[in-house]
Amino acid sequence: MESLIGLVNRIQRACTVLGDYGGGDNAFSSLWEALPSVAVVGGQSSGKSSVLESIVGRDFLPRGSGIVTRRPLVLQLHKTEDGDQEYAEFLHLPKRRLTDFSMVRKEIQDETDRVTGRTKQISPVPIHLSIYSPNVVNLTLIDLPGLTKVAVEGQPESIVQDIEAMVRSYVEKPNSIILAISPANQDIATSDAIKLAREVDPSGDRTFGVLTKLDLMDKGTNALDVLEGKSYRLQHPWVGIVNRSQADINKNVDMIVARRKEREYFATSPDYGHLASKMGSEYLAKLLSKHLESVIRARIPSITSLINKSIDELESEMDHLGRPIAVDAGAQLYTILELCRAFDRIFKEHLDGGRPGGDR
Ligand code: GDP
Ligand code: NA
Ligand code: MG
Repeated sequence: MESLIGLVNRIQRACTVLGDYGGGDNAFSSLWEALPSVAVVGGQSSGKSSVLESIVGRDFLPRGSGIVTRRPLVLQLHKTEDGDQEYAEFLHLPKRRLTDFSMVRKEIQDETDRVTGRTKQISPVPIHLSIYSPNVVNLTLIDLPGLTKVAVEGQPESIVQDIEAMVRSYVEKPNSIILAISPANQDIATSDAIKLAREVDPSGDRTFGVLTKLDLMDKGTNALDVLEGKSYRLQHPWVGIVNRSQADINKNVDMIVARRKEREYFATSPDYGHLASKMGSEYLAKLLSKHLESVIRARIPSITSLINKSIDELESEMDHLGRPIAVDAGAQLYTILELCRAFDRIFKEHLDGGRPGGDR
């Protein structure tokens, strides 16, 4: 059986396509809202892109100092069979399989510029990217612009509020899982990620705290108070991370090597050795995937009822369209209708069978 996360990924893409076709408010915008995903939030340079790359095990995101992520990136990870070739595909470039990940980075940059121009401005229009690989777990992650405190040269004064409003629009949805990134070399009390997460999720139910840059802390200090949940308590355990440093990136240190070094860091650390099995980006990826799947499982009844509403709406739209419609539009609606019926059926199987995990 298809994995639940894979299924939700397909619905999300179908919703996006229909959004382009229908625009505005329709049954699909409420369906999209109801689907859970993981939003990555944090201050600029807190390590958001690095965490995403570690989770994927690939080097593919634009990077640099200052504001690099200027449009939301909806990243859907699909686990494939061992030995399968890894590739990436953008929703705006259907059927083009990219196997060179430096091309993925370039396309994210180009596609950002297509909407915002080569400015330091931001746009809320998301870029959709899927990665198919045997080395990932099924997961949907949304990379967002970093929270910041001041506008820089070339940005309107409102940029600080605009970024916050955009990030907030993702994390305030009750179905959003918040990956709150804070760097260990700054006081947790000043963390932008925790500040926002606390506002939109006061109980900490849907917030996962991630502490990056453990390797950059002052000698003689450690982050045990945070990692053990004593400084700031969340419902889920904190996860510590050691990403590649800028020097590692400049030297092109391979992601797989970086994952291994991270594992070694925790395994041999006098401070964190006792937590080693619950630290690091691989552990974080598995934790998130498991959580996302359990959230989806709990939402199956409400998702199927929204799907059924969408089917009704589509059917009546097909009726109204009658004969003189553009062949494309009719075909597209028909495809989406078929997809919806398939989703409805598979969800019911998951619900009835309750078989845990499907084809994970
Ligand atoms: P973003 O702006 O939040 O997406 O942050 P980036 O992922 O681009 O990281 C900003 C800078 O911090 C880069 O130079 C990274 O190499 C560096 N960095 C991120 N995480 C770590 C870490 O855990 N350890 C070290 N040493 N450097 C890190
Ligand atoms: Na950055
Ligand atoms: Mg970034």
